[in-house]
Amino acid sequence: MAPLMILPKTSLVILVLCLLLSFDQNKQTKYNNNDTFINTIPLHSFSNGHVSLSVIKNNNTFSSSQSSLLEYDFYRNSCPRVERIVRSTIHRLHRNAPSLVPALIRLFFHDCFIQGCDASVLLDDDDYINSEKDSPPNESLKGFDVIEAIKSQLEEACPGVVSCADILVLAARESVVLAGGPFYPLYTGRRDGSNSFADIATYELPSPYADLSQTLASFKSRGFDEREMVTLLGAHNIGVIHCEFFVNRLYNFSGTNEPDPSLDTEFLNVLRSRCNNTDGSPSSLVEVQQEIGMDSKQSLSKFGTSYYHGLLQGKGILYADQQLMEGEKTKYWVQQYASNPTLFHQHFAIAMMKLSDHRVLTMPMGQIRRSCSKVA
Ligand SMILES: *[C@@H]1O[C@H](CO)[C@@H](O)[C@H](O)[C@H]1NC(C)=O
Ligand SMILES: *[C@@H]1O[C@H](CO)[C@@H](O)[C@H](O)[C@H]1NC(C)=O
Ligand SMILES: *[C@@H]1O[C@H](CO)[C@@H](O)[C@H](O)[C@H]1NC(C)=O
Ligand SMILES: *[C@@H]1O[C@H](CO)[C@@H](O)[C@H](O)[C@H]1NC(C)=O
Ligand SMILES: *[C@@H]1O[C@H](CO)[C@@H](O)[C@H](O)[C@H]1NC(C)=O
Repeated sequence: MAPLMILPKTSLVILVLCLLLSFDQNKQTKYNNNDTFINTIPLHSFSNGHVSLSVIKNNNTFSSSQSSLLEYDFYRNSCPRVERIVRSTIHRLHRNAPSLVPALIRLFFHDCFIQGCDASVLLDDDDYINSEKDSPPNESLKGFDVIEAIKSQLEEACPGVVSCADILVLAARESVVLAGGPFYPLYTGRRDGSNSFADIATYELPSPYADLSQTLASFKSRGFDEREMVTLLGAHNIGVIHCEFFVNRLYNFSGTNEPDPSLDTEFLNVLRSRCNNTDGSPSSLVEVQQEIGMDSKQSLSKFGTSYYHGLLQGKGILYADQQLMEGEKTKYWVQQYASNPTLFHQHFAIAMMKLSDHRVLTMPMGQIRRSCSKVA
C-alpha cells in the first residue's frame, strides 16, 4: 500500500509539472491576451487541489479497479516522445484542416462513452467485428486518418508500444488545447480492446433527439451527474452540426406541423435558411451553429461559453441541447458556465480527465494494435 500513501505527494509534483507544461503550451500557441491565457488553465483548481489526479482517482465512484493501473507518463522509458509526437502531428495537420479539432473530440467521446476508452470505435468491420463505425450515431465521425497518422509515426519511433486508446485520449486533449480550451494532465497505459460494440453504440450514445431524462440516464449510467453532463456537452461550443440532426425541429416537430416551440423564432429562421434542402445532402452543413447571433467578439478559437449563452436564449441547435434548460440542476449549471468561463474550463478539464479514464483496459487485459483499425 506504500504507493498509495505517497500518491498525494507524487501528484503534487505532477501537478506542478503540469502547470509548467501548460504554461509552455500556451506560449507556443500565440495567445496575445491575458484573459484567454488565464482562462485556459484551471489555475484556481491547482491552488485548492481539486484537480489533483489522486483526488479524482480515489473518489471516483464509477471507475473500475483497472483504471488505477494507469500511470502518469506510462511511456517514460518505452516511448518518451509519445506526447510530443501526438502534439506535433496534430498541430501540423490542424493547419490545413482546422475541423479536425472538433472531430477528434467527438471521436474520443464516442470511444470512451461506449464500453470505455479502448479504441473500439476505431476498428473496421470484418468477419468478426461489427464495427461501431457502422452504427447510425457514427454518422459523420471523422479523424480516423489523424489517429492512424499518429499511430504510424509512433510505430516508427517505438514499435508495438503505444496503444490506440492512449493516442485517442491524448489527441483529444491536444484538440481541446488547440481550440483554446484547458490543458489537463492525463494518465497513460491504456490498452486496446479487440471488440467493437455497434449495437451498444446505436442505443447508448446520447441521441440528438433525446429528452433530458434520456440524456441524463445515459450519462448517469456512466457515473456522470447533471453538472458533469452539462460540462461535457459544452464541447458543443465548437464544431459543425449536420442539418439532419435537427431538421425535425424546424417544420413538423413531433407531428405537430409546427416547429419546436422551445426554439427562438429568429433563430428558427436562421436554421431554416441554412437547411433549406431537407434531403441531408452535404450542402446543408450548418457551420458552427453556436456562433450564430452570438457575441462576435467571442471568437471561435477560444473554446468559450457561447453554447451556454445560446441555450439561455433558446438557441440550442439540437433538441437534446436545448433540453438542458428543462431541468432545475442542469439549467443552474448552464447559467453558471455562461457567466463564468473560467469555471467552465476548470470543470471541463476535470470532466475530460474522468471520461478519459472511463473503464479502461490495462495489463494484462487488451492488446497493443499495430494499426488502429485492426485488432492485432
Ligand atoms: C492581465 O492579468 C493581470 C493579472 O490577472 C491583471 O491584473 C491585468 O489587468 C490583466 N491585463 C489585461 C490587459 O487584461
Ligand atoms: C467523494 O465525492 C462525493 C460526491 O462527489 C463527496 O460527497 C465526498 O465527500 C467525496 N469524498 C471524498 C473522500 O472526497
Ligand atoms: C456509419 O454508419 C453507417 C451505417 O449506419 C455507414 O454506412 C457509414 O459508412 C458509417 N460511417 C463511417 C464513417 O464509418
Ligand atoms: C407531420 O408529421 C405527421 C406525423 O409524422 C404526419 O402525419 C404529417 O403528415 C406531417 N405533416 C407534413 C406537412 O408533412
Ligand atoms: C427554400 O428556399 C426556397 C427559395 O429559396 C423557398 O421558396 C422555400 O420556401 C424554402 N423552403 C423551405 C422549406 O424553407
